[in-house]
Amino acid sequence: MQTIRTVDELRAALGGHRRAGRTIGLVPTMGALHEGHLALVRAARAEADVVVLSLFVNPTQFDDAGDLAAYPRDEGRDAELAEGADVDLLFAPAVAEVYPTGFATTVSVGGVSGRLEGAHRPGHFDGVALVVTKLFGMVRPDVAWFGQKDAQQVAVVRRVVADLDLGVRIETVPTVREPDGLALSSRNVRLGAADRIRGLALRHGLDAVVARLAAGESDAVAAAEAGRAVMRGEGVEPEYLEVVDPDTFEPVGRTEGRPVLVVVAAPVGPVRLIDNELVEPPR
Ligand code: PAF
Repeated sequence: MQTIRTVDELRAALGGHRRAGRTIGLVPTMGALHEGHLALVRAARAEADVVVLSLFVNPTQFDDAGDLAAYPRDEGRDAELAEGADVDLLFAPAVAEVYPTGFATTVSVGGVSGRLEGAHRPGHFDGVALVVTKLFGMVRPDVAWFGQKDAQQVAVVRRVVADLDLGVRIETVPTVREPDGLALSSRNVRLGAADRIRGLALRHGLDAVVARLAAGESDAVAAAEAGRAVMRGEGVEPEYLEVVDPDTFEPVGRTEGRPVLVVVAAPVGPVRLIDNELVEPPR
């Protein structure tokens, strides 16, 4: 595996592959790699000839300076894991390489960016859309892989790719979970023992909604309220727990047999956790 810091080096490393017609796959990450990222790499490895993993803690997507400062960083460990997963190129640019002096462009996605994560983390999706657009311009991948855990992020990325004709196929990989159901997240390492247990409230809240919808409850608002009550019973106040349309993230009132996404976010101790589950209600 080659570690690359600059766009010039990246272009040099990928030019020959591109000319030879090889498929270039990108797994964008902010490091602190875990099994969820490795599942993305495995999916990329199975399909792309050349796998690039980007490692960049993107400052423009953090709405909270404390969260950015506390974001776990260990490039040595990440590089070992990436190499073990058979990544070809580790692209780990400095902030000044991505946002050089004079940088003045923004990317803002309307519609799907406005609710839920977008409303609770102002500017977050603008930062994600900007850095993903930059990474796609720098790596010029054929395909990029994202985790289903960040479902709204995936919808935002799909919108940018379609609207700006970026020509990158977006693939998703199911959320990887701990054996007890907690969704893997780079932020989980900051959970103390008691908060680690409280973090399961998100999973239990989702389970309660999914069970109701799967049993034929078509009132999505009532199902979501039952999920919020489960979370509160476990001492966790949801920022939101809603049943939404999987493409637009608009709230769903009645399921009427359509596939819906149940999405949840809550602060747990020092971190904010998110999770989601796709449900196909019975017709
Ligand atoms: O999901 C993430 O880790 C980040 O939001 C991403 C897509 C790498 C952009 O910084």
